[in-house]
Amino acid sequence: MRRIISLLAVLALLLSGCGTDKAPTVRVGVALYDQSDTFISTMARQLQQLFQEEEQGRGIKINLSLSDGQGSQTLQNEQVDRFLNQGYDIICVNIVDRTAAAVIVDKAQAADVPVIFFNREPVEEDLRRWEGAYYVGAYAEQGGRLQGQLVLDAWREDAAALDRSGDGVLQYVVLEGEAGHQDTLLRTEYSIQTLTAGGMEIEKLASATANWQRSQASARMNQWLQQYGDAMEAVFANNDDMALGAIDACLSAGMTVEELPYIVGVDATEPALEAVRNGTLKGTVCNDAAGQAKSIVALSCALLDGEAPESAVELEDGKYVWLPYASVTAENLEDHLKTE
Ligand code: BGC
Repeated sequence: MRRIISLLAVLALLLSGCGTDKAPTVRVGVALYDQSDTFISTMARQLQQLFQEEEQGRGIKINLSLSDGQGSQTLQNEQVDRFLNQGYDIICVNIVDRTAAAVIVDKAQAADVPVIFFNREPVEEDLRRWEGAYYVGAYAEQGGRLQGQLVLDAWREDAAALDRSGDGVLQYVVLEGEAGHQDTLLRTEYSIQTLTAGGMEIEKLASATANWQRSQASARMNQWLQQYGDAMEAVFANNDDMALGAIDACLSAGMTVEELPYIVGVDATEPALEAVRNGTLKGTVCNDAAGQAKSIVALSCALLDGEAPESAVELEDGKYVWLPYASVTAENLEDHLKTE
């Protein structure tokens, strides 16, 4: 609070003409868990663009600094320390290890710098340690349900197109994201639950983690192709990069587009939308990167202005901003692109 009040005092001075004519500067630190992650790099781009727009609109200087945790919590803690030691006004953290937020919350509180976590949800207890800690993310459970619904709808429309063995049962595999990530757990659980709740008979052939990564998914799918071949009728990938990895493996094993299993992902990244267009990916669920980035920026600005966060974003339990998912298939692809 003290920091925000002094920032406001500087702003007031400048506006009243008593300061120098140099635009005031605020500093925002964004700590990414791994900048090479496709979805995260998209979010980083959106954040850069939106903070830049905010800077122009407000006539102030916003110094945005991104750090890459490269998958290491130790490295990310050092980066957060640096932001705090250098007097940053707000920090946004895409935490490497979801169970390690307490340390960051406590340090932010000691420095009186608000912290907005995003995409990788800290355990609630840690978030509740300080009122200046928030989370912006998407409803993982809904993402899973919508992914399941894509397959359920296709089955209801033309079961034979999916059920290549003709046994009335859908044989499937799951490519999972990082172990322990809320999106891995909830997307997996609710996509499958949606099928059974919809009355489908299903059989899991295999599941394994590919850590959100295209190359790991492709290697895993390769093994499964050797083991199960055509028996794999559907592939549930916890994200688009892994769905694309599965497609890579099938195509390089010599399958035609028509022979591919029914593959679905989550995120609606650009290469995934292209795959929906060319028919290799049957559907995805949009993980609204732009919406999440917008909420982070709106919340940051409210906190910097010393305004109630509720005035800028819809806040649940005083802590959480939740963004909805939306399905994307070949049928609504063009509409989806228009809304982006
Ligand atoms: C996205 C993944 C991404 C992960 C990183 C998930 O919400 O769907 O693509 O790798 O977040 O934390």
